[in-house]
Amino acid sequence: MSMRTHYCGALNKNHVDQEVTLVGWAHRRRDHGGVIFIDLRDREGRVQVVFDPDAADTFAVAESVRSEYVLQVRGLVRLRPEGTANPELATGEIEVLGRQLEVLNAAETPPFHLDDDTVSEEHRLRYRYIDLRRPEMLNRIRLRAQVTRELRRFLDDNGFLDIETPILTRATPEGARDYLVPSRTHPGEFFALPQSPQLFKQLLMMSGIDRYYQIVRCFRDEDLRADRQPEFTQLDIETSFLDEDTIMKLMEAMIRGLFDKVLGVKLDDPFPRMTYQEAMQRFGSDRPDLRVPLELVDVGDLMVGVDFKVFAGPALDPNGRVAALRLPKGGELTRKEIDDYTRFVGIYGARGLAYIKVNERAKGRDGLQSPILKFLPDDVIEAIMQRTGAGDGDLVFFGADKARIVNEALGALRVKLGEDRGLLEGQWRPLWVVDFPMFEWDEGEKRWMSLHHPFTSPKEDHLPLLDTDPGACHSRAYDMVLNGTELGGGSMRIFRPHVQRRVFELLGISDEEADDKFGFLLNALKYGCPPHGGLAFGLDRLVMLMTGAQSIREVMAFPKTQTASCLLTNAPSPVPDAQLKELNIRVRKLPEKMAES
Ligand code: AMO
Ligand code: AMP
Repeated sequence: MSMRTHYCGALNKNHVDQEVTLVGWAHRRRDHGGVIFIDLRDREGRVQVVFDPDAADTFAVAESVRSEYVLQVRGLVRLRPEGTANPELATGEIEVLGRQLEVLNAAETPPFHLDDDTVSEEHRLRYRYIDLRRPEMLNRIRLRAQVTRELRRFLDDNGFLDIETPILTRATPEGARDYLVPSRTHPGEFFALPQSPQLFKQLLMMSGIDRYYQIVRCFRDEDLRADRQPEFTQLDIETSFLDEDTIMKLMEAMIRGLFDKVLGVKLDDPFPRMTYQEAMQRFGSDRPDLRVPLELVDVGDLMVGVDFKVFAGPALDPNGRVAALRLPKGGELTRKEIDDYTRFVGIYGARGLAYIKVNERAKGRDGLQSPILKFLPDDVIEAIMQRTGAGDGDLVFFGADKARIVNEALGALRVKLGEDRGLLEGQWRPLWVVDFPMFEWDEGEKRWMSLHHPFTSPKEDHLPLLDTDPGACHSRAYDMVLNGTELGGGSMRIFRPHVQRRVFELLGISDEEADDKFGFLLNALKYGCPPHGGLAFGLDRLVMLMTGAQSIREVMAFPKTQTASCLLTNAPSPVPDAQLKELNIRVRKLPEKMAES
């Protein structure tokens, strides 16, 4: 038998004159001239319960109630008296006249009140079970459940099979550090937690499953940010015998349907597609936020001969870039604001942020204001003005360095300017980024690295480039981007053993190492592997965007901190020596500092 007849938050005018039994938490208790009001709260909302002194016993119990006591109330629903309705509250037109009250459990004074919005995140994480009682949190968690329900429904309807893959497994190369688990039965050996189920889902295609999905936890030991957690959830998908165009259309339909059902939002149909090259050129990023109407413009060719080394150097460097970013009405920026933006791009390695303020363009050089004017001849200045389309009142920023630094710095700056200056256009701007290079040259390690992962297929007609010009070789990868966040990414996979070996070779993975680490995959490729491809969405990021949350921690019930610890359970933690011994592990003496923290 249920202890309630209704949820508190579900009551309304239709229930007037009904006798109801409610359970929930005392959100607030107020004493008003001999009458006690208790706001009773449950998952669905709150309702006001009134206790009159007539029933002395019940009234005495009501007087004893404190914040977060767990109560059971029986009472009569009635309209609130004229003029006392609360339009802010879903149940604001009614109240419950309390006739019986039982304290199911008392509560100590909670560490913070649910209405207090100044509580630190640390405190919230330590007492997450209280934090989660807040309607804002409950609503996000509820929306998350709705999202997974809709995604599952779509995939089930389209013939995808939900299949689990191992958590205790071998390292999967997605580019982060692994979380390791020691094996007791194999002393000195370790499992790795999966960074993604990549290889297993490919093996499932080789098993003939045809269409697979899984809502699955992935583990990556990497530097954490607002949109990165050490364990996070992917909607992981793989298909056989479909090409990338078909996969992208199917996935788009899924996401469009999701936004329509859950938010009532109609996303673009189809999503625009942009090459990696164009995205980097125009936005300095492979996950451009298309809501920001600012674009990078190349000016390197203009700077080749100028006397300003800061610009001429990168202009002559094949790996360099000199780019301009026009900010309409940027003339309004103060010196201090420009200094702040200069510090901001510094985070991305930029060594400065040159700019030209356009006061009055018709006046030529005299109508401009800039610390670099003296270095630039008239024709170059005129060409910059033309190319950026700068007009009176605008400001043009410049970045000059290795292309990677310029792209990261100006790419981040354009998003920041867009937000700071209220320039965002449109609410939802999805797109696909395609035509990625297969490899990136790592200057530090002097070797090629996969831009996606080593199982991504090169474009068929680019196969010869693997031998002649790996840097020019494009992959069959695709990323779905929404408002500047990479929602998901995937690719067509390599399905021929010799291509896979060749790619390993280029990545500096020797035949022996390949056999040791990926022998099972290379073998499986030999026994009838269908052409296949898929992708994975970051579910936490998707829900973060859909709820307008600022961090994925806000859409996870029990997230970890920036240093990958759980404040609620105090994990990770030391373990008893006996347990270590069983695992054949000895912990080295820790440096003082580490031991304390
Ligand atoms: P990828 O590494 O791009 O691809 O991951 C897919 C998506 O997962 C999300 N994501 C994260 N979310 C939160 N915290 C993290 N630390 C984190 N890392 C990634 C992103 C990303 O787009 N196996 C391939 C997919 C494939 O090729 O099918 C993979 O894992 O939203
Ligand atoms: P300096 O000659 O160092 O005083 O620099 C003149 C201007 O160029 C200043 O506004 C700097 O912020 C800017 N600057 C310096 N280095 C760079 C760079 N790598 N990219 C863009 N602007 C720069």
